[in-house]
Amino acid sequence: MEVFIYQKYAEMSQAAAKVVADIINLKPDAVLGLATGSTPLGLYKELVRMHKEETLDFSHVTTFNLDEYVGLPPGHTQSYHYFMHENLFKHINIEPQNIHIPSGTTSNYKAFCQWYEQRIEQCGGIDVQILGIGSDGHIAFNEPGSSLGSRTRIKTLSKETIDDNTRFFKKKENVPIYAITMGVGTVLEARKLLLLASGANKAKAIADAIEGPVSCMCTASVLQLHPDSSLFLDNEAAGKLKMRDYYEWIQAKKPGAPASS
Ligand code: F6R
Repeated sequence: MEVFIYQKYAEMSQAAAKVVADIINLKPDAVLGLATGSTPLGLYKELVRMHKEETLDFSHVTTFNLDEYVGLPPGHTQSYHYFMHENLFKHINIEPQNIHIPSGTTSNYKAFCQWYEQRIEQCGGIDVQILGIGSDGHIAFNEPGSSLGSRTRIKTLSKETIDDNTRFFKKKENVPIYAITMGVGTVLEARKLLLLASGANKAKAIADAIEGPVSCMCTASVLQLHPDSSLFLDNEAAGKLKMRDYYEWIQAKKPGAPASS
């Protein structure tokens, strides 16, 4: 597990985008796992810039999003389909048939969830999964108590998540209560995990995820189990880390280390 701390959100976003771009440049048909929410906006903005100014090519890239609200059709302005289209897909040269986002309106969630898992496998698995973190420590919508072996399924959102996400809706009553989400087990199968966190309201969840026990009470703590996971944090999100000096020491020394993989 690697921890990278940046003074500013923009720096953090650019550094994370570079990791994603390097993967695409090395493997043009890379499979990306994508997250929504406020946190990855800077990363998507930077990928769009790289596409426009540095010819970063998405024409062979495949994507799988982590989650979608149950009940919201793709055209709903708060749906994750809409978010992805507005903030990334419409600005890059990705083929529409290579985009996968869980359906929030399927008539058969069980079958859809199974198909989503199979589709990830058919595409060769996810090369890099981008993640945000909830203030309750969730990754995707794997709320506290989610099985660490869970697969794509329906989850009931926690009250904390509903409160956090009310900012995107006109009122709390409009926030969907259920989401369709990749499971913790699904996320753990990605070859690389890249978790981004910004702001003081994420500081406790980040400290729990990095320095607490691996626990279903903070599903982000499973990054500790993954052989290639990195956390990109801004100054505020890193605010409650006890070993911050240590992570910063390693970050500073990393460019001089011999490559081992
Ligand atoms: C969204 C997702 C969620 C968010 C998390 C943080 O696809 O999977 O886990 O990453 O709720 O959201 P923001 O970035 O809005 O604070």
